[in-house]
Amino acid sequence: MRQKSSLIKDKEAVKAMRTACGISSQLHTLSMTGAVVGLTEKELAQKISRVYETTEAGSWAYPMLVGAGSRTTIIHAQPTQKKIKEGELVLIDMGIKYKGFASDITRTWPAGKKFTKEQKTIYEIVLTAQKEVIKATRPGETLTGLHALSKEILLEGLLCHKVISKDEFSEVFPHKTSHWIGRLVHDACPYFNEDETAVKLEAGMLFTVEPGLYLKNRKDKYNNIGVRIEDVVLVTEDGCEVISSVAKEVDEIEELRAYC
Ligand code: GLY
Ligand code: MN
Ligand code: MN
Repeated sequence: MRQKSSLIKDKEAVKAMRTACGISSQLHTLSMTGAVVGLTEKELAQKISRVYETTEAGSWAYPMLVGAGSRTTIIHAQPTQKKIKEGELVLIDMGIKYKGFASDITRTWPAGKKFTKEQKTIYEIVLTAQKEVIKATRPGETLTGLHALSKEILLEGLLCHKVISKDEFSEVFPHKTSHWIGRLVHDACPYFNEDETAVKLEAGMLFTVEPGLYLKNRKDKYNNIGVRIEDVVLVTEDGCEVISSVAKEVDEIEELRAYC
């Protein structure tokens, strides 16, 4: 475990992280503008890899994850020979390293041109949670506090749309909202102080905001809908800055998908 002090990144590190996130964002945006129906998850991953070869990226930060349809509900879906079909969602979790610093971005979007009604409902619940966590990020906050906020918003959205009952919540959101990021995609810095209180955020810290919902083994129209939205944020003196930059509003995504 690295020292707490290494959570605060210097200017050079932040600059490298910005470039890493910039390159990864471009790869995500490109993948979102291409036709994917009929391709396999592996073929889509290969397409992205061919563009990656033309960038300044040093390496991948982690093996790219691509899941379509029911496989969006697998948190870490390695790309397979599954063919991507019209009406399905595609979830890509992908990030490169630049000058030794990692990026980590996830986007979920329709294989065709538009989200279905149910996909859009779930997507908007996740997007609201992600944006509210980003809004609440500032020095003095903690990742524990932000995770509690994320859970509250996801649960409220699901209950409001009568998607699940309260006791099913941990099954549909089984991971944390955030992790530190730096030279490693999961930067090995402490989350708690020696007295077991949560580490408070300070300017210069970098972490991910990645709420998700994974709905499976259901008999209704919400079955096989998995959505995660993940960005990298930098804590600033009075809030935070999102340093990854890929479309995430429903209308922005549908505009990009309209070209495919
Ligand atoms: N790419 C792994 C994660 O999001 O933590
Ligand atoms: Mn992550
Ligand atoms: Mn990720």
